[in-house]
Amino acid sequence: MTTRLLIVGFGNVGRGLARLLISRSQWLKTAEQLDCRVISITDLRYGTIVQPEGISLEPVLQHIEQGTPFSTQPQPTENLIRQLDYDVLIELTPTRLETGEPAHSYIRMALERGRHVITTNKGPVAHHLLELERLAREKGVHFRYEGTVLAGTPLINLIRNHLAGATIHKIEGIVNGTCNYILTRMAAGMDYTAALKDAQEKGYAEADPTADVEAWDAVAKVMILAQVAFGQKLPLHSISRQGISGLTVADIQQALREGHHWRLIATLQQQDGILEASVAPQKIPQDHPFASVTGATNAIAIYTDCLSRITITGPGAGPVETGFAVLNDLIHIHRKITRTPNGNHNPR
Ligand code: HSE
Repeated sequence: MTTRLLIVGFGNVGRGLARLLISRSQWLKTAEQLDCRVISITDLRYGTIVQPEGISLEPVLQHIEQGTPFSTQPQPTENLIRQLDYDVLIELTPTRLETGEPAHSYIRMALERGRHVITTNKGPVAHHLLELERLAREKGVHFRYEGTVLAGTPLINLIRNHLAGATIHKIEGIVNGTCNYILTRMAAGMDYTAALKDAQEKGYAEADPTADVEAWDAVAKVMILAQVAFGQKLPLHSISRQGISGLTVADIQQALREGHHWRLIATLQQQDGILEASVAPQKIPQDHPFASVTGATNAIAIYTDCLSRITITGPGAGPVETGFAVLNDLIHIHRKITRTPNGNHNPR
């Protein structure tokens, strides 16, 4: 079955996804009966391509490596979303955390048209997850966002599917790859500016890295987890927030001599029906499970009534690591729409 994709936003994650679609094209067809056809890509920097018969992704990636735009006539994204013939909108524009726009409107437009949507954009999910899931349900389509927290490490799937039936009372962990990478490099003596530049070059940082180092990105992820795990919407400014930009190499190395590691820790805790959330750097001891979490790796501990503590650790940022989340969401949507409830392929 051919699945037509419209990709909006073609930065690090879009390119990571494109590489995966190229390398797994044959496997997707044979193992999953999923034939992906990218019919349009649009990006503020590179312009727009529309090819209903399917875009060849290799030349597009080569084009971008050479810094050349796709076309000289960018088309308004709204028109593409409203008019093109596609099955899944893949929304990968940069996060704008204050409002979640314009991504929120793009996602709504596609869902209103009865199209499935996958996003890795934290803004619309942080502000509007419950509303967007309701709209998707009303329209009988799927809305997936695995890549918004812990990149392709399957945290959202874990909470949504595998912990169904357990009550979660606390979640804490490392949710920003860039900050963890910077803190790890600074512990080895690299200065803050060089470590940040390194994280940007590796494709971990946000388009505006202030979002990472001042902990806005971690706050967005806390807002998403509040909805996924606790069904509650927390306003952006209700979450206590402190970033890592005030930490120096001297602070970090002094802590190390005392047997401690600085980590940026996000916490969500429900007590007596009240959900409290914060993000702040913490000095943790050598034997703490998060002390060994280094580089762009993330880790989350989930405290539940039935299973006590569950911990998941894995990549928290990166083009292919986040592109994988989109690919995985795509496979899940495809399975849901083509397989019968007992898991067999639908013969249609
Ligand atoms: N800038 C984010 C991070 C990307 O470093 O964690 C993944 O959400």
